[in-house]
Amino acid sequence: MNILVTGGAGFIGSHTLIELYKAGHTAVVLDNLSNSNPEALKRVAEIIGIREIPFYKVDIRDREGLGKVFAEHRFDACIHFAGLKAVGESVEKPWEYYENNIGGTLVLVDVMRKNGCKNIIFSSSATVYGDPEEIPITENCPKGQCTNPYGWTKSMLEQVLMDIQKADPEWNVVLLRYFNPVGAHPSGRIGENPNGIPNNLMPYITQVAVGKRKELGVFGNDYNTPDGTGVRDYIHVVDLANAHVCALQAIERNCGIGIYNVGTGNGYSVLDMVKAFIRVNGVDVPYSIKPRRAGDIATCYCNPAKAKAELGWEANYGIDDMVRDSWHWQSQNPDGYPEA
Ligand code: NAD
Ligand code: UD1
Repeated sequence: MNILVTGGAGFIGSHTLIELYKAGHTAVVLDNLSNSNPEALKRVAEIIGIREIPFYKVDIRDREGLGKVFAEHRFDACIHFAGLKAVGESVEKPWEYYENNIGGTLVLVDVMRKNGCKNIIFSSSATVYGDPEEIPITENCPKGQCTNPYGWTKSMLEQVLMDIQKADPEWNVVLLRYFNPVGAHPSGRIGENPNGIPNNLMPYITQVAVGKRKELGVFGNDYNTPDGTGVRDYIHVVDLANAHVCALQAIERNCGIGIYNVGTGNGYSVLDMVKAFIRVNGVDVPYSIKPRRAGDIATCYCNPAKAKAELGWEANYGIDDMVRDSWHWQSQNPDGYPEA
């Protein structure tokens, strides 16, 4: 299939491009580079062994720009990663988050349907479950109250896309609810490249290990979990990337609406991750216990059985692979990608 990949220069998008090509698909990337670097696409092409990945520096809110891309290509489906994703920033700038993520997706979907492309895989998040009513979380678990505008953009966009599909059954809409993506391509050439101080656990750990930050703050050790620290379902980004390739099968068989948890089904605590990182990589990660972070929940991991049964997808990488590949990327690229 020929796939439009919005946000394809970003962390998950860049890894997904490799798996798409490996599976025999082709892709065109559309990204405004607001949170990414074109160097990632150069390296993706290198890994795949092609001259370049077709790329358009276009914003998903730019109807005319999108129109030009669709005039030059015929797409079988869109994998829609483009969006702003910093939870804290979304609390400070809710308008910017709703306008970019929701406004942008509305323009994208309109241009898609006008050009006869009615297949979309959307990057959703475990955050739509709020404080989940059941653990492990299945897709039947009711959606919950999000604690920030970023989360609401995901929850609302799920609804928008489902309503569009219901009104026009020619659409196929696959909502992938990612748990906690970590790791990097095993080559060490591409990986997560956060701007400023990382919000998420794994990039913080790798930046402490590489000497860019003094110590990790562990946000709370008094949760009702085995060691008191928060438990999450970390998933290797290459496994996550492959879930998109498998999701294309759902589109091929006209699934209508498909909703899938994308996680491993294993819950690891903050200290489990820190200890695995130190053990596997032989580098120290100083840490100290800090107060809980507002909005955090104790435990979040999924039951990924539906994705296995319906998409034939399951995670292959374990915790040791995740911490090894995260470190491989960070240690080879201590400052991320070079400035373009
Ligand atoms: P990322 O920031 O690395 O990638 C997103 C890409 O979208 C960036 O390259 C950015 O430049 C681009 N972009 C943003 N707004 C755009 C716009 N208006 N027009 C065009 N391009 C735009 O993030 P990621 O971690 O790769 O996440 C990809 C998707 O998955 C996002 O939608 C994110 O919300 C979602 N998601 C991520 C996580 C995570 O922990 N990384 C978890 C759940 C869901
Ligand atoms: C975060 C986002 C969520 C998003 C998810 C997937 C928040 C509040 N939520 O969730 O919307 O869908 O990422 O990427 O940011 N931790 C520390 N020290 C740190 C960083 C994190 O102890 O410096 C702990 C957290 O308290 C948590 C765990 O590590 O228990 C994972 O945190 P993080 O990587 O930020 O992911 P989530 O909070 O699960």
